[in-house]
Amino acid sequence: MIKQYLLSPGPTTVPERVMLRMAAPMIHHRTPQFSAIFAETREMLKQVHQTTQDVLMLASSGSGAMEASMVNFCSPGDTIIYVNGGKFGERWGKIAGKHGVTAVEISVPWGQAVAVTDVEAALNAHPDARGVFVQASETSTTTEHPIREIAALTRDRENCITVVDAITALGVIDMPMDDWNLDVVISGSQKAFMLPPGLATIAVSSKAWKLAESAACSTFYFDLKTERKNQQAGKDTTAWTPAASLVIGLNEVLKMMFEEGLNHLFARHKLLAEATRAGVAALGMKLVSSTPASSATGAFIPEEVDGAAFVKYLRDTMGVTFAGGQDDLKGRILRIAHLGYYDVFDIVIAMSAIEIALNRFGYPVQMGAGVAAAQQVLAERFDKV
Ligand SMILES: Cc1ncc(COP(=O)(O)O)c(C=O)c1O
Repeated sequence: MIKQYLLSPGPTTVPERVMLRMAAPMIHHRTPQFSAIFAETREMLKQVHQTTQDVLMLASSGSGAMEASMVNFCSPGDTIIYVNGGKFGERWGKIAGKHGVTAVEISVPWGQAVAVTDVEAALNAHPDARGVFVQASETSTTTEHPIREIAALTRDRENCITVVDAITALGVIDMPMDDWNLDVVISGSQKAFMLPPGLATIAVSSKAWKLAESAACSTFYFDLKTERKNQQAGKDTTAWTPAASLVIGLNEVLKMMFEEGLNHLFARHKLLAEATRAGVAALGMKLVSSTPASSATGAFIPEEVDGAAFVKYLRDTMGVTFAGGQDDLKGRILRIAHLGYYDVFDIVIAMSAIEIALNRFGYPVQMGAGVAAAQQVLAERFDKV
């Protein structure tokens, strides 16, 4: 028997309590019973987004919500600005291209955050830009971008919105949508929401809804105006068949989040990230990011070690699933997740597994060094988050 540990930045571990809730007999989605759950879930979702605006649920993975955030607020021929600092930033450009939207790229070296001055310069060079599209947390490089500062730049530009992919940031960091003037914020179920994949959420500001009135990109399934009509209070349903089990699971997840308290939840993620960074540093592994995220930690695998085989060994022989790197970082980095249903001892397991695997691959590692460094951080603040 090999016990399995899922320490990848999505999908993440689903809490037992949530699995049990989702295992209840299926109910029909066009019923008062489902609508009651839907309405309660929607109101809790607003609290997690820290918004009074509409938050919609879509039966799709996160990329579906990314596409929805393009097609509902833009027309073919429009210009948007996007931050490309990794695999997911790059996706904005691809989505725009499919819909005839001109995408102005701000290219950022992988592992770095976008400079706010570069966003400002792009906005000045393209005063007609319909929006700035950016990741709050670029998962491929485990990097946080300065979304608050970016939103401050678009706030007073009448027809320009800030669209935030918060797929690995919502429920991890404090990012109050209304206070920070974020216009569109999207998330996905298989990350900090601790659910299986298949449900995306999208929160939309009144400024963005105004842009939606004149947006002419075509979409049927992802028409947010249709969803808004159906999902509003009183109707409490979705336009198309919802990912009902996931909505029910989300209801339980959000209750767990509020039982913990949002401030505690943010502090916990910060602590786990700091402990992980201390652990990998003690093993001599350099961080991928200069502005590391609280959702996952990317660290370079020592060059002497075959990175792809290392990640595979951890997963298939040791039962510990991390994520490797993508594109240029393929085979070179390890991404250790700490978003969602993770606590201090998961970090100890992660460090211990990395040490044993490094040892197996002949890398001179001092056993316990990473564990000790992580534990030091955890022990100091374990009961103080
Ligand atoms: C930041 C970010 N954006 C977008 C996506 C794509 O989401 P999905 O794979 O759910 O379509 C991911 C998935 O890992 C992500 O981490």
